[in-house]
Amino acid sequence: MPNIKIGIVTVSDRAHSGEYKDLGGPAVMEELNSALTSPWEAVERVIPDDQDTIEKTLIELADVEGCSLVITTGGTGPAPRDVTPDATEIVTTRTLPGFGELMRKVSLEKVPTAILSRQMAAIRGKTLIINLPGKPSAIAECLGAVFPAIPDCVNLIGGGLLKTDPEIVKAFMPHE
Ligand code: MTE
Repeated sequence: MPNIKIGIVTVSDRAHSGEYKDLGGPAVMEELNSALTSPWEAVERVIPDDQDTIEKTLIELADVEGCSLVITTGGTGPAPRDVTPDATEIVTTRTLPGFGELMRKVSLEKVPTAILSRQMAAIRGKTLIINLPGKPSAIAECLGAVFPAIPDCVNLIGGGLLKTDPEIVKAFMPHE
């Protein structure tokens, strides 16, 4: 069995141009490294806040790379260049509203501006795509909240089996 591939996509004009260091991608990587015990392979991208580029990247990671899971970070807010959820919606067929609802709920306990995040999760074929905000602290909070449901979702859509360290993430797998 080949390793499960996970796409990690930093969406940020400034990280892409080199104006500042990408902190989002490494933060996602750190969360996945500590939670996952089954073998997996990261496919990383740092791209600008350009809807066409985001759509093409998500399609490539799902259809060409065959990622079972793609996690984006950044571009979920209301500013004109925040278009990650818009691109995600276009390239997917089914949304999973519970992800956005839970992530906003836990974030709202930290910052009132959590309601500004339009982050969502949706399915393209055998790929689950999840949007996270760009801030590293937000990444840990949001991913930590939804992680227990990710392995079951990936399994149900045919993306393979992801195993987690129960000390870090107690995955609930009612369909295994
Ligand atoms: N969620 C958490 N947990 N922590 C945060 O600091 N920031 C919010 C929100 N969600 C935040 C958060 C803010 S200020 C914005 S504008 C949105 O996420 C969108 O952030 P993004 O554009 O980096 O995706």
